[in-house]
Amino acid sequence: MGEELQRWILMVTARAPTNIAVIKYWGKRDEKLILPINDSISFTLDPDHLSATTTVAVSPSFTSDRMWLNGKEVSLGGERYQNCLREIRSRGNDVVDEKNGIVIRKEDWQRLHLHIASYNNFPTAAGLASSAAGFACLVYSLAKLMDVKEKYQGELTAIARRGSGSACRSLYGGVVKWQMGKETDGSDSIAVQLATEKHWEELVILVAVVSSRQKETSSTTGMSQSVETSELLRHRSQEVVPKRVLQMEEAIANRDFGSFAKITCADSNQFHAVCLDTSPPIFYMNDTSHRIINCVERWNRSEGTPQVAYTFDAGPNAVMYAPNRKVAGLLLQRLLFYFPPDSSKTFSSYVIGDTSILEEIGVNSMKDVESLTAPPELKSESSSSTFPGGIDYFICTRPGKGPILFRNEDQALLNPKTGFPL
Ligand code: DP6
Repeated sequence: MGEELQRWILMVTARAPTNIAVIKYWGKRDEKLILPINDSISFTLDPDHLSATTTVAVSPSFTSDRMWLNGKEVSLGGERYQNCLREIRSRGNDVVDEKNGIVIRKEDWQRLHLHIASYNNFPTAAGLASSAAGFACLVYSLAKLMDVKEKYQGELTAIARRGSGSACRSLYGGVVKWQMGKETDGSDSIAVQLATEKHWEELVILVAVVSSRQKETSSTTGMSQSVETSELLRHRSQEVVPKRVLQMEEAIANRDFGSFAKITCADSNQFHAVCLDTSPPIFYMNDTSHRIINCVERWNRSEGTPQVAYTFDAGPNAVMYAPNRKVAGLLLQRLLFYFPPDSSKTFSSYVIGDTSILEEIGVNSMKDVESLTAPPELKSESSSSTFPGGIDYFICTRPGKGPILFRNEDQALLNPKTGFPL
């Protein structure tokens, strides 16, 4: 049978999580291969709340590689997509599906075209690490489709890294370290899992999506300017991070929340100090971000030990870690007091994700939010201002697992008969 007449489509759907670094990656030593100037460590977030789902399909009837992101066609022409596609294709194996009469030889992957559809279960515009989940999911699902077998542990993470540096950390669940590596070809610049999501299950992670209409400098541009101009970044990558990574690994291994919180906050603050030290300076945090830091710092100081940790990426959103549900409830009470929803919001859209903590603290309606009182650490102060509308919404989540393959075709984003988006 001529290939033109072959109408088969083979497809795979997978889901990959996003991740938030507690030791930040900021700065490349090789822009093309995306090789970092220091190690970084992140927590993978629960994919039920923050993840990308991707369907990849192959068929002799497709005439070019095409991709749809959140329903809209996007170009695959960019270097980062091309690098990922090339690296995966060259590792493809024979795939035979006898039932459906599909035979793909490993060399066929070079000429067969792909259709890719991807979607994020959280708003891309919110400035949450969508490229990390997206590239991790792309590489993972293509590897499944083409039956790619890793020649060494972490080989797939090195391919995801070519899409976006932080994406390499989204190929595992729990706690993940991206080792900067030494090789010039980047083969040892891979992610490794430090602990599974079960290791520190009690942790609660709260994301505050901060209202902002400002266009931010992209991470890629920002870090390249920092490498060029910031002396503090050189000091950070050479002197500070190597020691900090060891301390962080120990704190996580021992579930030592006090040390974990101190290092996490210090690392976020140093990253933003590097941004200020960049010429021209880059401001990612805004007034609301600073108020969140104040709220946490004041509370931590009044208790004498860290209650929660905060960290900020290349934008104003805060990600906060609490050691357990009880403390997470106290944190939410404080944040809802300082940042009540503005009148355009409904209560159910203001806190999303795992909202069971709200029930535990007895906050179930707008009325309950209005009756929250100032936290005790504020009592001695004359002013207790609140800032309605400063936060768009909160996502309540936890450490989560790595990518998964969906066996069920119900999850597919492409029509199994046409190979086009549903
Ligand atoms: C601040 O991975 O988005 O979130 O490699 O250029 O794609 P590229 O950058 P990206 O940078 C992430 C920076 C960060 C810190 C982190 O996730 O470690």
